[in-house]
Amino acid sequence: MSETYTASITAPVNIATLKYWGKRDTNLNLPTNSSISVTLDQSDLKTTTSAMTCSSFTKDRLWLNGEEDLQLSESKRLTQVLANLRLKRKEKEAKDASLTKISDWFIHIVSINNFPTAAGLASSAAGFAALVACVAKLLQLDDDMTELSKIARQGSGSACRSLFGGFVAWEMGEHSDGTDSKAVEVAPLEHWPQMKACILVACADKKDVSSTSGMQLTVKTSDLFQKRITEVVPERFEQMKKSILDKDFELFAELTMKDSNSFHATCLDSYPPIFYMNDTSKKVVRLVHKINAFYGKTIVAYTFDAGPNAVLYYLEENEDKLMTFIYAMFKNLNGWENKYNGDELNKFIKN
Ligand code: PMV
Repeated sequence: MSETYTASITAPVNIATLKYWGKRDTNLNLPTNSSISVTLDQSDLKTTTSAMTCSSFTKDRLWLNGEEDLQLSESKRLTQVLANLRLKRKEKEAKDASLTKISDWFIHIVSINNFPTAAGLASSAAGFAALVACVAKLLQLDDDMTELSKIARQGSGSACRSLFGGFVAWEMGEHSDGTDSKAVEVAPLEHWPQMKACILVACADKKDVSSTSGMQLTVKTSDLFQKRITEVVPERFEQMKKSILDKDFELFAELTMKDSNSFHATCLDSYPPIFYMNDTSKKVVRLVHKINAFYGKTIVAYTFDAGPNAVLYYLEENEDKLMTFIYAMFKNLNGWENKYNGDELNKFIKN
């Protein structure tokens, strides 16, 4: 029996509250702006990845949600990510002759998402983060998450942020080789444990414009885009980090909603236009603003990635207030308990 090594890991979905949209280098996945995300709790949406390497394997193989990806060798991003991880192992082996030369062995990878893939729920982020963290563990690399984030970024830009929990920034960097384009922790989840997220799945189908082709169309054709990357986002990046460190929910929420709107505006300003939000998404936007107006303060924020599904951020203390209204709007759908039907809802409906 040949010698084998195995590793297993889970990585959570991260949802950007300050969006990455646009690449200045498509090969290295270098962004045109810095971004910020909140990595959801591990128990919710996540990818679980296991890997095995063995001297007798004859090729790299990947199974995604139970089906083998037979195009693996044609996936430039995946092969680039694996090559970078193997290179790190090779460097380690060169320094320590007692190490088995597993950098030359092929790897089998099994990856499972517990949520719809490619439906604007950041599946590629969790997927590539899990793959990088898992293979790094398999190859016994000593690199920290920020170092690994530079490899995960090459698989899918937003994946670099999923290597951390909590509040994470992806610093765009300035160098053309990508050595300073990396994810860093702004604050761990424990810093602001009262922050909660709720995902409203408006449609779980695969999106029809991938984020890669969507963002490059925006870069090429949108007039709004230049203002967004040079003026709007750099200022928002600093403000949002401060709002997180200060636990200023109202400011965090306002910046999050404005940034989602700004990103979708550049999509609409692309030519031909890209529509990720649908009528249900717009209904959610209106509802959130109505709820905040009803309470006279911002208690909930929405954000939409490259798809119609809404992610709502709120503080735990406001969960019942928020769910009352979400229930009122979507109670005809399955899966609700009829526990949110109080006086507040009646007042709101009369408004
Ligand atoms: O990482 P990608 O290539 O799937 O792009 C992600 C783009 C957004 O989700 C819309 C924004 C973001 O920062 O995650």
